[in-house]
Order: sequence, then C-alpha cells, then structure tokens
Amino acid sequence: MTRQALIIDCDPGVDDAVALMLAFGSSELDLLAVTAVGGNVPVEKTARNARMLRQIAGRLDVPVFMGADRPLRREPAGAGEFHGAEGLGDMTPFEPDAPCAEGHAADAIIELVMGRPEESVAVAVLGPLTNLALALRKEPRLAGRLGPVAIMGGARSEGGNITASAEFNIWADPEAAAEVLATGCDAVLFGLDATHQVRATEARIAALEAAGTPMADAAASMMRFSQRVERRIVGWPSLSEWGPPVHDPCPVAWLLRPDLFQLKPCRIAVETESELTRGHTAVEFRPSVAGSLPHRWAVSADAEGIFALIAGAVRPRRTI
Ligand code: RIB
Ligand code: CA
Repeated sequence: MTRQALIIDCDPGVDDAVALMLAFGSSELDLLAVTAVGGNVPVEKTARNARMLRQIAGRLDVPVFMGADRPLRREPAGAGEFHGAEGLGDMTPFEPDAPCAEGHAADAIIELVMGRPEESVAVAVLGPLTNLALALRKEPRLAGRLGPVAIMGGARSEGGNITASAEFNIWADPEAAAEVLATGCDAVLFGLDATHQVRATEARIAALEAAGTPMADAAASMMRFSQRVERRIVGWPSLSEWGPPVHDPCPVAWLLRPDLFQLKPCRIAVETESELTRGHTAVEFRPSVAGSLPHRWAVSADAEGIFALIAGAVRPRRTI
C-alpha cells in the first residue's frame, strides 16, 4: 500500500481535532507533520492543542511546528465562541509531554515538500492559509512541487458562516488565500457547500462514544460541544437527523477516500478589497469565462462514509 505523505496545517479548533484524530488513526497516511496557525484561538493555543491531541492519539512520532500568529495583513480574529476559550471545547488543557519541533511552520512545509519527490506530499489546510502563503512566498518553487492542497474553506451556494458571504478560514486571512490560489497549486476547496452536508447527528456522536477509546472520546466531546453551540448560536431546525457541521475532516477524508466527494473544476478568486464581502470565494465553473479551471470545488460529501472513516480511525486497536 502506498501511503500518502501529508502535512496538516490547522488551528485546533474542535473540528480540527476530529480531523487530526482521523489522520492520526489512518495508517494509509504518512503524516509528516502537523503545523499550527493562529485562527480559532491564538497560535500558542492551537500549537498546544495539536500537541495535546497528538498525545491523546499516541502519535508522538509526528512533529508539531508552530506557525503564524497573525494574518499576512490583517488583525487576528478568533472564533472562540464556536471552539471555547482554549480551543478544544470543554476539554481541560494540559501541558503535553512533548514540545513543538524547532523552527517555523512555513520553513517546515518548505523543507518537507522540497525534500521529497515532486507532487508526493499533500497538504491539508484546516485553518487560515497564512502558513502556506508564507511558505510559497519564501520558496516559490513550492507551488510546482506540492501534491494536492486540500483546503477546508470557502463559501458559495450555502452563503457564509462568519459573514453573509464568507467562510471563516478564508475571511480570517483573505490575502493568504488569494496568494495561495494564484500560484496555480492543485487547490481543492471543501467549502460550506460540502461541509454543511457533514453533520454530527446524535447517532453518529453516540457511535463514537460507544467506541470507548481516548481518541473516540476526544472526538465525541468536541462534537458534543459543537452541538450545544449550534443550538445556542446558529439555531436547530425541527429535523430528527440534525447536528453541527463537522468541517475539517473533509479534506483528510478526501485524501483517504476521494469517492466520498463530488468535485467540480473551477477557478476561484477571493474578495480582498470589500469589507462587506471580504473573504468571499467567487467560484467560476465556466471555462469560457475563467479561461482555465486550475482549482476544484467540492459540491457534495458522503457524510455517512466520512463518519465511518472517523469511527474506523478511532476504534479500539486489536493488540497483536
Ligand atoms: O468555517 C469553518 C472553519 O473555521 C473550520 O476550519 C473551523 O475550525 C474554523 O477554523
Ligand atoms: Ca479549523
């Protein structure tokens, strides 16, 4: 089995935590590093949270690098109301055993990608794109060297979640997103059109709670927190099968099972000038208008299949 080499850049974050558990528990992935960026909470907390989750998963073999503490140009903006002040919902923070690896996340991305065969290393970006943008600025050859860049971000048909027209990761650092997309890297965006189809229903959370492993417990607790936030802040339609969207596992799930998603070729541009529509992703599917279609946009996601992957990744391991 050829394992997909992967770097996960994230801002844990309750749904980042679920994505990390999926990655930590998937032997098909060769997880080279986790890089932390400021986003949901400041980078000191997102890096600590990544180290906490790594320890819970027993994956101290995966280095964690700290990255950008602020966007390229704008003031840092958090999302603590959706992730808790410490970033991992109700989980009580602890000082993890292992520290961050030496060096900035952007330099780690450059070194890991440039040191391996062309297009062999995928990057999953689950927070603002600042670290990747900094890496691409420092080493422009990176764009041609990268494998797929699977990004949780973007708003189109579903509208936005931080504003009427923008999704948080792109809104938090629109300049970074615009720069990354302009490099021509193989960007695949899992925006709200897809991630809003992936909801943590009661049955799906209960299945994780029944697994009885530290990884499953951590993932379930994050979703329980999001359930309460969804009811309080977003609202809850009277549907039996409803729950909070779990955004960040989607890029990782795609790398494991691309058949769980429907993607459409497109060209994506990011609004960076208007404050009203800052961070909006203009997704153009028409080649006659776009000229070429270098990006891909996820239009559908198989939630049942994605949760089956998560459950498989956090299940009890048979001791041999
Ligand atoms: O809009 C959802 C995204 O913003 C997710 O990555 C979530 O963790 C927050 O960072
Ligand atoms: Ca995130």
